[in-house]
Amino acid sequence: MFDQTIFNKELSTSWLGRELFYFQELESTNTYAKKVPKKASLHGALVLADHQTAGRGQHQRTWTIEPCQNLTFSLIFEPQQSDRLSILTLACALAVCEYIEENLKVSAQLKWPNDVLIAGKKVSGLLTETVFKGDVLERLIIGIGININQQKFAADLNDTATSFISLNKKLHQRELILARLLSRIEYLYRLWSTHDLDLPKKINKKLIGYGKWVRLEVDGVLRSEEYKFLGINESGHLVVLNKALEVDTFSYEQVRVRLNSTSS
Ligand code: BTN
Repeated sequence: MFDQTIFNKELSTSWLGRELFYFQELESTNTYAKKVPKKASLHGALVLADHQTAGRGQHQRTWTIEPCQNLTFSLIFEPQQSDRLSILTLACALAVCEYIEENLKVSAQLKWPNDVLIAGKKVSGLLTETVFKGDVLERLIIGIGININQQKFAADLNDTATSFISLNKKLHQRELILARLLSRIEYLYRLWSTHDLDLPKKINKKLIGYGKWVRLEVDGVLRSEEYKFLGINESGHLVVLNKALEVDTFSYEQVRVRLNSTSS
């Protein structure tokens, strides 16, 4: 079970994760985070479950992993602005990447739009959801799943998923990982909220396919032409250059990047 005492001892953030909603078992931390009754401020609140019975992934997929072995949590933000949310999601994914590189000493990459990979295998996925009241963003929820101590995955995931323990055969302390990760996310949140241009630059350097000719699946349709993938811009749009050397932009969710190109 997740040890809240250890976590609280390790946590050194000033506001992120200071309010914790912990559950041994919960349908989905994202679903809960959307429904937590509104009070003065939920900005920075953390919803964590040792076992999600109906964990959700991108595109109506499920997120099913072994109980008590991994990290499945959601962060609630109440930002002043409702634009550039894609940059914030990618910033959280970047925090996971940086954590891995610093602590596990292996290289990690971001796969557009919201996965973290180690040696081509997925170690973490993010699911961002919003709650609007009219035009006003009330709550932004970033749900993060990280495979930590799980050694075996379902047959269909065996070739595509990995975990911390698979890399170095050591049991990892989830409380410590989460506490450190939240410090990093808190720092990157500050860069995001101050429109710091270093943030999209840092993200782009980690994106698989950045600077390469790739194919794009736009709104579910794979385009035949190739585009040079220029990553995310400061507005949170995906930027590409087409073969006629014109710049095109797409919204974050619209696009999947396919790396099947042989050109460089
Ligand atoms: C994906 O890769 O498809 C996104 C997976 C997101 C999983 C996390 S686990 C915590 C949070 N609660 C959920 O139900 N989903 C996200």
